[in-house]
Amino acid sequence: MDLRQFGNTSLKVTKIGLGLAALGRPGYINLGHAEDLDQKYDLKSMESHAHNILTHAYSKGIRYFDAARSYGKAEEFLSSWINDRNDIGIGSKWGYTYTADWKVNAKHHEIKEHSIDVLKRQWQETLNTLNRKPDIYHIHSASIESGVLENKQVLDYLWQLRENGLIIGLSLSGPRQADTLEKSLEIKSSEKQLFQSVQVTWNLLERSTTEAIYNAVKAGYGIIVKEALANGRLTDKNTAPEFQDKLKVITEIANEYQIGIDAIAISYILHQSWISVVLSGAVQKSHLDSNLESLQIELNPGKIEKLNQLVESPEEYWQTRSALKWN
Ligand SMILES: NC(=O)c1ccc[n+]([C@@H]2O[C@H](COP(=O)([O-])OP(=O)(O)OC[C@H]3O[C@@H](n4cnc5c(N)ncnc54)[C@H](OP(=O)(O)O)[C@@H]3O)[C@@H](O)[C@H]2O)c1
Repeated sequence: MDLRQFGNTSLKVTKIGLGLAALGRPGYINLGHAEDLDQKYDLKSMESHAHNILTHAYSKGIRYFDAARSYGKAEEFLSSWINDRNDIGIGSKWGYTYTADWKVNAKHHEIKEHSIDVLKRQWQETLNTLNRKPDIYHIHSASIESGVLENKQVLDYLWQLRENGLIIGLSLSGPRQADTLEKSLEIKSSEKQLFQSVQVTWNLLERSTTEAIYNAVKAGYGIIVKEALANGRLTDKNTAPEFQDKLKVITEIANEYQIGIDAIAISYILHQSWISVVLSGAVQKSHLDSNLESLQIELNPGKIEKLNQLVESPEEYWQTRSALKWN
């Protein structure tokens, strides 16, 4: 896979990256997470499974990896796997503390707090755990409501990290992703933007940030897409009766190309001029391979037009998303 420049930074990334949200902890909201892990949740099994997938991803050319403090042992698993692989890019995030204590059905899986104390603590934890600096450091689920984009102490600290060579980013969630991204563009000093990366949920169903993304690209941001498969809703794991008409449209196109519907959904994103990285959230090798087939096809304008019709309103999308269960 070719390496490409990430926004206007000097970091080089591959078009597909691997996300570790489901690999680093036993509980997650993806459809069918329990089956993916074969119900094997002990620490050693999970670490060796994560290492196998990381090695497989690397062998397929993936060179960008996404972690967060709240993804259980994701940073630890990455760190014990890296060895002398110096040609990879790593992103991590602060702002959620993992609280599930390795349980699938915890009362609280993660607690959100965007304060200066959490930032300082988690930055140190990330450095200690990874044994190296990440390349990108994101605010995890930044929002207008959390006030983090107006917190002077937090912003000053992030400026310092940026001055020390880190790429500062934010990840977005919820129906107001676009507003939060636009707001982040206002944070600059002598024409330098604080943020140079955004991680956004953008897929066939949720595209409400498109305009804001164009503005971010103009400002030099690299764009990372997460939840490309709507947490598994854009795969054949989705048996919800109300979704079958939409799945049929994607399946027909997938059958023509003889690839999976996941690959069509990812390819649609890869066709966007602004994309830097699409994260695969696969936990199984076969799913990762299927995701990677998205790189092999060219969707013609007729097919793109058909896929354009599948969009949902952000309210509808995020309501369905919030009903997904941890498993
Ligand atoms: N910043 C944030 O707030 C935030 C939020 C969410 C995610 N993320 C990042 O984005 C990454 C991806 O997110 P995600 O995991 O929610 O994304 P996703 O790609 O939308 O969904 C992943 C799900 O799709 C399934 N899948 C993939 N290919 C499949 C196939 N061919 N057939 C059947 N099922 C298939 C996976 O199953 P298997 O597990 O069985 O492979 C997994 O359950 C995360 O790992 C994380 O790094 C960030």
